[in-house]
Amino acid sequence: MKGPSVRTSKLLAVAALAAIAGCTTPAPDPGADEAAFKQMMASSFRDKGIARVERLQQDESDAACSRAGGAPLPEAQALAIRDQNRATVKMPADGRFLGDWRAGEKLAQSGKGMSWSDASTATRENGGSCYNCHQIGPQEIAYGTIGPSLFHYLANHEASDPQGAAARRLVQVTWIRLYNAKALNACSVMPRFGHAGLLDEKQLKDLMALLLDPDSPVNR
Ligand code: HEC
Repeated sequence: MKGPSVRTSKLLAVAALAAIAGCTTPAPDPGADEAAFKQMMASSFRDKGIARVERLQQDESDAACSRAGGAPLPEAQALAIRDQNRATVKMPADGRFLGDWRAGEKLAQSGKGMSWSDASTATRENGGSCYNCHQIGPQEIAYGTIGPSLFHYLANHEASDPQGAAARRLVQVTWIRLYNAKALNACSVMPRFGHAGLLDEKQLKDLMALLLDPDSPVNR
């Protein structure tokens, strides 16, 4: 093996001196950071089973919130994102919002789905992982607190009278939130269950019943 030529050694020595003498710190370049980050993510993940690298691609509303880094968006931009996401919400085809709260409780408990080892992306395999972020039914004492408590959901929203205007409004708003939380809060961290195809219409109805059926343990 040949060592470095004399010429190369001289160049290295000059470069080392320049580094000591200069000590210039380059100004931060957010564009370069973002490119480097994307490069790192792209080289760290690969497709496996149903889990595809394309999941890392953010849509414009997620990207805007990432760029803001947790700071609130300018009001006009937040409003535009809410409007775009609101436009994706499909109300239930038959006009009925409430399914079976027992099935809803199972979905709220389940964190299954979207894993590379799952056979298909069929939404019926997915759970909602709701307890990861919310207190919900009184029996489950292991829950996360990233989102507000949903226990006594009707009463907390002063909607205990099922015929009242408040209950009707709450039903609509809750469907919109479960379908696409960014329709109400531009930078919500709550998964966009309907919009992202994580849960289907029947599953959303069952979760709705867990929160809004007066017979659900959530409201008793
Ligand atoms: C990663 C955490 C996370 C998960 C998972 C999550 N949520 Fe949320 N949720 C939130 C946050 C945070 C809020 C507060 C509003 C916002 O930021 O969008 C919220 C708000 C809500 C609200 C409005 C509460 C109120 O009193 O007005 C409802 C209803 C709700 N979530 C239901 C659900 C259901 C049902 C599931 C499961 C299918 C779920 N959430 C899963 C984080 C989460």
